[in-house]
Amino acid sequence: AERRHDRKEDHVRLATGQWEQQDGPGERPGGAGNEFDDLEFIHHALDAVPPESVDLGAEMFGRPVAWPLYINGMTGGTEHTGRINQQLAIAARETGLAMGCGSVSIALDDPDARPGFRIIREENPDGLVMANIGVGRSAEDAMRAVDLLGADALQVHINAVQETVMPEGSPRFGDWMRGIEAIVSASPVPVLVKEVGFGLSARTLRRLADAGVRYADVSGRGGTDFLRIENDRRSDGDYGYLTGFGQSAPACLLDAATLEAASRPILFASGGVRNPLDVLKALALGAEAVGVAGAFLSTVVEVGAEGLIDLIGNWQRHVCELMALLGAVDLPALRRTDLLIRGRLGEYTRLRGIDAGAYARRRES
Ligand code: FNR
Repeated sequence: AERRHDRKEDHVRLATGQWEQQDGPGERPGGAGNEFDDLEFIHHALDAVPPESVDLGAEMFGRPVAWPLYINGMTGGTEHTGRINQQLAIAARETGLAMGCGSVSIALDDPDARPGFRIIREENPDGLVMANIGVGRSAEDAMRAVDLLGADALQVHINAVQETVMPEGSPRFGDWMRGIEAIVSASPVPVLVKEVGFGLSARTLRRLADAGVRYADVSGRGGTDFLRIENDRRSDGDYGYLTGFGQSAPACLLDAATLEAASRPILFASGGVRNPLDVLKALALGAEAVGVAGAFLSTVVEVGAEGLIDLIGNWQRHVCELMALLGAVDLPALRRTDLLIRGRLGEYTRLRGIDAGAYARRRES
C-alpha cells in the first residue's frame, strides 16, 4: 500500500513537472510542439459570424452539456491527491464540466484511500462524475468503483505501454476483451474505454465496438508523457529510447473516421490538449467531447480551484470566438470546416491511406 501511495504522488509530481517546462501556450511538455500543430484551419475572410450566434451545446453520455470539455481522470487515494481532487471538483462544479478521477483500485483495497475519491461527489453532488478502473479488473470491482463515487459513467483505462515501463508494472496482458465485455454488461452506467497517452487505433476502436463499448477516449501522445514518467521512476532509466511510441489524438481521430459510425464507439479525444485551438481541432476532427488532464492539473496545483475556474472560463470564451471566426455556428458546422493536415500528421495519413485532401475541401462538398 505504501508503494502505491508513493506512485500516486510520483505521478502528480512528474506530470506537473512536465507541464511546468512549457515555454508558452503552444508548447507541449518538454518544449516541443505536438501533432495538433500539424492541423491548420483555412481562413475564409468573409465567413465569420457573430459570436452570440454560436451554440457550443453538446451531449455527453446522452446528457446535455453547455460545451463538451471535461477534466480527465488523474488522481486520488492519498491525502495530497485527495485535496487535488477536491480542487478539481470545485472547478468542475463551478464551470459545469464533467470530471474523471484516477484509478479507484487503490480505494477498493484500502478504506483509508476512499475519502480522496468520495470528495469529488461531496463537492459536486449534481455534476457529471466518472469513476475509473484499469482494464483487467473484474466487473465486480468496476461496480464497486462506480458505487464509491456515485458515478454517472465509468472510465476503463488500457495502459499496456505504461505497465511495460513502470518499475512495479504488472503486464498481465491477455483476455482483456472478455474483461471489458463483462464490465460493459454488468455496468449500470455508460462505460468509456480510454488510453493514458498512447492512442487508440481504428483496429482497437472496432474491437471495442464489437465488445459493446459505446464510448472511447483515444487519449493520444503529445501531452503528459507516461513513458517518461515511468522511466524517470526507474533507477535504471532503461526505456528512454521508446519516446514517441504510440499515436497522437489527431492521428487517432483521422484513423477512426475511416470506420463506419456504427462500427466504432462515440469518440472522445484527449492527450496533448494545451489551449482552446487544440479543443477546436479535436472537435473539428469528430470528437464529441475533449478531455484535458496535465494542463488542468498543473494549473490547479499552481493557482488552485479559482485559477482553474478562470482558465476554463477563458477557454470557453475563446472557443466561442474561434468558432465565430471560422463561421461555425455549432459543432456539426465545425466538422465541415476546411483543415490542412501537414507535417508528421500528413505523413501518417498518407501511410495509413487516409484521404487528407478531403479535409482541405470540406466546405465545398
Ligand atoms: C493520468 N491519467 C490517468 N488515466 C486513467 O485513466 N487513470 C489514471 O489513474 C490516470 N492517472 C493519471 C495521473 C496523472 C498525474 C495524469 C497527468 C494523468 C491519464 C490522463 O487521463 C490522460 O489520458 C493523459 O494524461 C493524456 O492527457 P493530457 O495530460 O495530455 O491532457
